[in-house]
Amino acid sequence: MSILIQNGRVIDPASGRDEAMDVLIEDSKIARVAKGIQANADETIDAKNKIVAPGFVDMHVHLREPGREDKENIHSGTRAAAAGGFTSVCAMPNTTPVCDTAQGLQFLASRARDNAVVNILPVAAVTVGQAGEAIVEFGDLVYYGAVAFSDDGNPIMNAEIMCRALEYTSMFNVPILDHCDNVDLSKDGQMRSGANSVRLGLKGIPPASESSQVARDIDLAQYTGGRVHICHVSVRQSVRHVANAKKSGVNVTCEATPHHLTLTDAAMEGYDANFKVNPPLGSEDDRRALIEGLRDGTIDCIATDHAPHTDMEKDNVMTEAPFGVIGLESAFPVLYTDLVLTGEIGLNLLLEKITIAPSRILNLKKGTLAEGADADIVVLDLDEEYAIDPQKFFSRSHNCPFVGKQVKGRPVATIVGGRVVFRDGQIVT
Ligand code: DOR
Repeated sequence: MSILIQNGRVIDPASGRDEAMDVLIEDSKIARVAKGIQANADETIDAKNKIVAPGFVDMHVHLREPGREDKENIHSGTRAAAAGGFTSVCAMPNTTPVCDTAQGLQFLASRARDNAVVNILPVAAVTVGQAGEAIVEFGDLVYYGAVAFSDDGNPIMNAEIMCRALEYTSMFNVPILDHCDNVDLSKDGQMRSGANSVRLGLKGIPPASESSQVARDIDLAQYTGGRVHICHVSVRQSVRHVANAKKSGVNVTCEATPHHLTLTDAAMEGYDANFKVNPPLGSEDDRRALIEGLRDGTIDCIATDHAPHTDMEKDNVMTEAPFGVIGLESAFPVLYTDLVLTGEIGLNLLLEKITIAPSRILNLKKGTLAEGADADIVVLDLDEEYAIDPQKFFSRSHNCPFVGKQVKGRPVATIVGGRVVFRDGQIVT
């Protein structure tokens, strides 16, 4: 099977390439990237006036299978990923049951074989049942394919457990994806504390509930030599801690989400639980700090934290509705529209943050168009203009904070391992 993608603007942040070129795929690999390739390919894709980039890699996705398939499952979640241009997604382990054993990973692998249209990279829990009390069998879980460990959804409050976890995982060179939140400070909170939470009468979550935990875990990573990756950084003080730690050589990386990069706590105005997320949306100053962090390299990558919840759960009073927003199908157009078209960051930097940057953190051979690499590719139309409509999403859930937003830019073809899995709005199986 061969595919020739012709006449596109090829952007490969891993190599710095940005020029009009053709890409030839043979079997599951990228065979050649060059001008004017003559080949008798089985399939040709005309990418004139389009961008050809490595398929996006999302380090932070909740697929909800097993246990909450009413919100999402591997079938729907990976189709949402493909439609959003993502060719690899990390599956977070806060499922029911929690993925904390080799059997859990084997189950995920077998479901992925039958139902997934993109690569699923499993993340296993740090503690048994994500209860924060006993560490898992890290070696066993790495052997069975875990690419990282996380108790995401819950912080690891016990510093000794975090210390042990960092020590053990350092032996396998895999990161802990760290949900930083001091629950003693954030308990019962629904949004970021500040003038808006007071005005709206919603209990606030102080910025220090995140940043104090970021500081603690940076110190523990320095002490143990482990690798900590801070999930969904949302406040300026956390960005400062990460920047300082990087300067001192600590093994720390971090991500920001599309919603924290483009929205603020002012969005809570209408008491719509589709803006209720953990960590909560921050101030405009926090948002500026995240964008500055993207530019200066403090924020390594962008991850969606795609967190599906049912309409019934979200259509509830703020105190009862769960935290989380979906992101796979809105990430690229929202980031392109609000960060690139506004001149905040360049297109190449955006693509770097969703391709090669997360791949490096996870030690993957992905996120590049290098010859010989896996043929995971996205073709983007930057001119298409439309309003975001979650009812048209492949995701089973609709808890999107960008409903009706006018955006530009859309993936028009997604190729995974040399197979077209999404083309012109349709999943191809
Ligand atoms: O808002 C969130 N939702 N944050 C998390 O950390 C977990 C996620 C979920 O699983 O719903």
